[in-house]
Amino acid sequence: MTTGLSPIELAKFIAAKQASEYIESGMKVGLGSGSTSAWFVQCLGEMVRENGLKIKAVPTSEHTAELAEVVGIEVITLDAAKWLDITVDGTDEYDANLNLIKGGGGAHLREKIVATASDRMVVIADATKKVDTLGAFPLPVEVIPFGVGITRNLIEEALIGMDVMGRDVSLRMDGDTPFITDEGNMVLDLHLKHIGNPRQLGFVLNQIPGVVENGLFIDICDVVIVGRGDGKVTVRDITNNTAEVVQYDVQQEDNIFLEVAE
Ligand code: A5P
Repeated sequence: MTTGLSPIELAKFIAAKQASEYIESGMKVGLGSGSTSAWFVQCLGEMVRENGLKIKAVPTSEHTAELAEVVGIEVITLDAAKWLDITVDGTDEYDANLNLIKGGGGAHLREKIVATASDRMVVIADATKKVDTLGAFPLPVEVIPFGVGITRNLIEEALIGMDVMGRDVSLRMDGDTPFITDEGNMVLDLHLKHIGNPRQLGFVLNQIPGVVENGLFIDICDVVIVGRGDGKVTVRDITNNTAEVVQYDVQQEDNIFLEVAE
């Protein structure tokens, strides 16, 4: 038996494992944040330690940076890297055009900078992340703490003219205090249910003073790799317009399962 992983963790793991096939020695790699990206970092760490893979990586959060260093990946700053060959990251939602909502972990600002500074963005996900229309997942918007109440009011006003189905805005909390991002900012979550025009919404939100960045990733993602609990992985590449299905033998022994799942 490979693992005691739940089907959803297995799905995330095999998506991450498939994404590791894009990585070659000499590459500069953006590392995403969140639980699916953590599997990818583990896979890369194993390749570095056991297969001699030589890469330099730019993490999108302090948490990912710590994990990367623990598993043996060389971490550099984005400014030192200047440009990246590829970024691999998770997502909270993706649609048929590979547009995304990200920021469930509050890392979307660095994630968007890093993905935009990459030749290619590969998203790894389990099948629950696919939606017909973005917006069921609350849209994270990173805002500076100064005047956060005013920024929130301005966002609520702006939403009146938008093609959305809900307009509730909540300040993300971490227990009794506001959640603070790695950049020292706060996050407003927009409960929109349905985003009819994500491109327009992303543009309008970023015009509001106090808004640093919203969690809509439009025309940034090139490939989505979706894992399923039965071992099936779908790779959809929007630049080549290809879709490929790979079947993993989930009964096969794999060191990383033993290392991480124990
Ligand atoms: C972090 O802010 C997010 O953008 C994550 O990439 C996203 O929430 C996906 O996380 P999981 O892989 O944990 O679902």
